[in-house]
Amino acid sequence: MSRELNEVVVVDAVRTAFGRAGEKGIFWNTRAEDLCVPLVKALIERNPALKPEMIEDSIWGVTNQVKEQGGTIGRMIPILAEWGWEIPGCSIDRMCASGLTAVGFAVSHIASGMADCLIAGGVEHMGHLPMGFMRDPHPRAEELLGGPSAFNMGMTAENIHDRHPELTKEMADAYAKACQDKTHQAISDGKMKNMIVPIEVTLADGTQMLADSDQQPRPGTSMDGLAGLKTPFRDPDGRVTAGNASGLNDGACVVLLMNRMKAEALNLKPKMRWVASAVAGVDPTVMGIAPVPASEKALEKAGLTMDDMDIIEINEAFAVQALYFLDRFGIKADDPRVNRWGGAIAYGHPLAASGPRLVAFLCGLFQENPQARYGLTTMCVGRGQGYSVIWENCN
Ligand SMILES: CC(C)(COP(=O)(O)OP(=O)(O)OC[C@H]1O[C@@H](n2cnc3c(N)ncnc32)[C@H](O)[C@@H]1OP(=O)(O)O)[C@@H](O)C(=O)NCCC(=O)NCCS
Repeated sequence: MSRELNEVVVVDAVRTAFGRAGEKGIFWNTRAEDLCVPLVKALIERNPALKPEMIEDSIWGVTNQVKEQGGTIGRMIPILAEWGWEIPGCSIDRMCASGLTAVGFAVSHIASGMADCLIAGGVEHMGHLPMGFMRDPHPRAEELLGGPSAFNMGMTAENIHDRHPELTKEMADAYAKACQDKTHQAISDGKMKNMIVPIEVTLADGTQMLADSDQQPRPGTSMDGLAGLKTPFRDPDGRVTAGNASGLNDGACVVLLMNRMKAEALNLKPKMRWVASAVAGVDPTVMGIAPVPASEKALEKAGLTMDDMDIIEINEAFAVQALYFLDRFGIKADDPRVNRWGGAIAYGHPLAASGPRLVAFLCGLFQENPQARYGLTTMCVGRGQGYSVIWENCN
């Protein structure tokens, strides 16, 4: 049986502020589910034509599926939103790309005709569920993944520096400083306002506040400050620091996807349409290089080249892996197409939330750049994977 694909569009995307993981974090006393519920409710408020009963599945990426993030959080979110029992839900794990995979599964469900209206998101509370918490790797995993560094993402970034000495620590620090500068500019210009859903929180000391802005960015970051930081993943001679790596964070982000005909019937304006996606596997000890083959595959499927990409949103797990990606595609580190509003080094990287965050950023960037036609969202994944999605601007 052959069938035409339905056109899939993103109608809206919202996120929480991203907090620092741990007791000093704004979400220390907030559960993972309670990061997600205000987001899905905000989708209904922002898009009055959308009714909860139209949502055919609630697909959530979450890396650590234990404790508050276990028990199929994707199903619990619509129930906790008090939308009744009729909206199904599931949880997906592809480590850092769990949320982007949730978006990808929503795309394929809509394209195939299995659904017309879905929510797909990602959440990670790294303060409550630290990376690797309660994991029990197979006794052969270390040998088959290429060695112990495959389990420590910072070490995989050091390995990229080893293999590509032309990507120096100074370049990584300069990239990180530029990221902080772009982030500060974007926040000062109010670019995050329409995307962040404020949440009432109680801090560890009992203070109540509205969490409406990201906690991780460090405006005023200097090259001198970065040069003096410890290299926690290798000492001496390490190059990866807290300054040129993404941090440990709490946050959530959700995307509303529809069949274009459904969106238009509801008078909801599509922000961007899905063009192509691809996932790729690489040597897990240098997992950060994987956005390159994933993007090559996605571009090939789309019949496009990197030159066609007017906006590029790459998740900066580490500066060196973003630099590797740019270098391989012949793109300058300061190319204005790349992470124009800054990236994960400044905003943070609450694992599964980061893929949907890239989608939210691309939506915003497409909106303010109607002349931009194509955009790429791409990220690397622990255990050696990359996930890339190409989108077309509907503005
Ligand atoms: C790198 C890492 C270990 C740092 O953790 P941390 O020590 O808790 O980080 P902090 O935010 O406390 O920063 C450490 C120090 O660097 C300083 N620092 C961080 N960024 C800075 C910047 N841009 N400029 C100047 N100083 C900076 C902090 O002020 C802090 O200084 P202090 O020790 O004097 O207080 C942690 O963020 C990490 O593991 N990141 C990678 C996460 C990851 O692997 N994700 C998955 C990717 S695939």
